[in-house]
Amino acid sequence: MRGPPRRPPLADPLFLSTAVEAVLRAGEIQRAGFGGDLHIEKKGPIDLVTEVDLAVERMFRALVAERFPDHQVVAEELGGNEPVRARHCWVFDPLDGTNNFAHGLPIFCSSLALEIDGQAEVAAVYDPTRKELFTAERGGGAYLNGVPWQVSGAERLIDSMLVTGFSYNVHEAGEMLVSLFAAFLAKAQAVRRLGSAALDLCYVAAGRFEGFWEQHLKPWDMAAGALLVEEAGGRVTGMDGQPFDARRGHIVAANPAVHEAMLATIASWRETRNAGRLG
Ligand code: IPD
Ligand code: CA
Ligand code: CA
Repeated sequence: MRGPPRRPPLADPLFLSTAVEAVLRAGEIQRAGFGGDLHIEKKGPIDLVTEVDLAVERMFRALVAERFPDHQVVAEELGGNEPVRARHCWVFDPLDGTNNFAHGLPIFCSSLALEIDGQAEVAAVYDPTRKELFTAERGGGAYLNGVPWQVSGAERLIDSMLVTGFSYNVHEAGEMLVSLFAAFLAKAQAVRRLGSAALDLCYVAAGRFEGFWEQHLKPWDMAAGALLVEEAGGRVTGMDGQPFDARRGHIVAANPAVHEAMLATIASWRETRNAGRLG
C-alpha cells in the first residue's frame, strides 16, 4: 500500500546516500557473480559463503574506511559479531540469501543499517534481480524505489500471508521450528519461506506479506528490515513481545493488528508445549 510522505529525517543526508551507494554497488557485484562458476566454502554443515559475499563485504569495508574512518562496521563475513565500540556502527549483510544465490535462485539482496548511539537510524536494502531499493530513515517513512510505502491493512491472520525462515541450527532445532510453523499454518491464509530474512522484512514493509517471524537471526539479517517495517507503520518486537533488539536474535514484524495476533499465537503455542512437557 502506498503511504504518505513523512517529516524530513534528522540524520546527516550523507549517511543515506552512502547506504544507497553501498547496496547498489553490492548489487552490481552480486549480478556479475550470479549464475557463474562460484568458489563456495562451508562455514558449517549447511552455512555457505561464496566469493561474492566476501567481495561485497571487502568493497563495503573499504568504502566506510575511506569516507567515515571513525565509524565501525559489523558485518557477517570478515569480523562477525563484534561488540559495538563506536557511536556510528554500520550493520551489513553483504549477501542475504546466500544459499539461494549459490543455487542460482534469484532471491537475495544486501542489507545495511546505520546505528547511531545503538539505534538504527538509516536503512537500505537492495534486490538486484528485481531492481528494488528499499530505504528508510527514522521518522522519515519507508520507500520502495523512492515511493513512500506502508504495511498492509489486513486485520486477521486468516487474511494474512506470513513468512518465516529457518536458521542454520535447523538440524538441531527442527522439531521446535516446524511445530511453530504448523501453528501459524493452521491460522494464516498462507505461510512462505523465501530464504532471505532482509527481503522478508522489506516485503512486510511493502505490504506484500502481513507478518514475519524468525529466531536465531543475526543483527545484519534484521537491523535494516526492522527499521523499514517500523517506518512503514508496522510493529516490531521480539517473539516474547519485548522491545525489538537486533542482538537478541528473534523478531516478530507485522502490521499492528496482525502483530498482536502473531504474538498471541506464539504465546498459546508456548503454553501448549509447556503443558505437554509437564503433563
Ligand atoms: C540467512 C537468510 C535466511 C534466514 C537465515 C539467515 P544468509 O542469511 O536470511 O532467510 O532464514 O536465518 O541466516 O546466511 O543468507 O546471509
Ligand atoms: Ca543473512
Ligand atoms: Ca549473508
